[in-house]
Amino acid sequence: MMIDRRRLMGALPLTVPALLSACKGAAQPAPAARLETPPLKSLSSLPIGCCVQTPHLQDPVFTELLTRHFSQVTPEWQMKMEYILPEGASAADVSTWRWDAPDAIAAFAAMNGMRLHGTTLVWYAEHPPAFEAIDGQSGFEAAYRRYIETVVRRYGAATGWDVVNEPVDEDGSRLREHLWQRNLGQEEHMLIAFETAHAAAPDAVLFINEYFVEKIPAKRLAYMRLIETLLKRGAKIGGVGIQSHLDIDARPGDSKSAIRDLASFGLPVHISEIDIGLSREKPEPRTVDDQLKLQAGLMTEVAEAFLDLPQSQRYAFTAWGLRDKDSWLRNPPNAGDGTDQPLMFDDNGQPKPMFEALAAALRGG
Ligand code: XIL
Repeated sequence: MMIDRRRLMGALPLTVPALLSACKGAAQPAPAARLETPPLKSLSSLPIGCCVQTPHLQDPVFTELLTRHFSQVTPEWQMKMEYILPEGASAADVSTWRWDAPDAIAAFAAMNGMRLHGTTLVWYAEHPPAFEAIDGQSGFEAAYRRYIETVVRRYGAATGWDVVNEPVDEDGSRLREHLWQRNLGQEEHMLIAFETAHAAAPDAVLFINEYFVEKIPAKRLAYMRLIETLLKRGAKIGGVGIQSHLDIDARPGDSKSAIRDLASFGLPVHISEIDIGLSREKPEPRTVDDQLKLQAGLMTEVAEAFLDLPQSQRYAFTAWGLRDKDSWLRNPPNAGDGTDQPLMFDDNGQPKPMFEALAAALRGG
């Protein structure tokens, strides 16, 4: 299912000029109701991020809302190996790599004065055939270094990168096993990734990034131990990412303590992928309004905890999608029943209580 969608999207004629002209189309008058809503990015000096895909950038309604409220973009998936190294690409031959979509997103960010956050260089979930085909450890390591160096150099404008994504197993009991760790070693593949990314972009903030560190204490601990070990071994980790994929039944206080704990390294923190699903797990019936209130309450907790950090530790606050209908939780392969409303804007681009919660926290922070 996922591959079909990607093939389809990869086949779109996404040239940079086409996208730039689409962006120009974005300068349309905004509907009056929306103008009354203060732009999030105007409420604080904190960079406010959102993930994007290239088809969104051809939609003037999307780009108007995006550029009004946000000051940073993260490519949702088109700067990952799954896009850059499609089936048939060779790790050794850069001319077979795919750049159209990530180039277009980088150009969009530059044209709109937005920061670009690159994601993700090394992720257990991505093991492209181009790498699986490599025989022999030294060839593998050289190709791994070349990939990281090439991508990071190409997007030299990026403020930061998710260098290692989701290193800890689902339940926190151990580090994940995958192609990169098998070929290069568990800590070694991460050390090499940080070293190579740092050499390619010495000023970029290099992140390690993880999810469920709020609700699974063992996972938070394993993540913290890993960061400590990598730092001791000299890794150029410049920031700690907390994805913040949450749901409305998250235990109050969990996000606050996770942010506090992970900020204890003194490094910048990125709330890197926040969305808050409307959980259907509780047996008692709840109205949508009640659920949206819980969602807003959780947003307040995350935003206030983040804004409590010293300014030097606030890298950015990034939503994993703009409108509910844009969410990965609403689209294949993660669609659930297709009714979730996990983001700050509804399907029509109207701000939800969760938006007001972030706006209020930013005003107060
Ligand atoms: C997801 C994207 O939203 C999807 O479009 C893509 O199909 C798969 O990846 N954690 C991460 C993100 O680190 O990269 C994931 O993004 C969501 C979970």
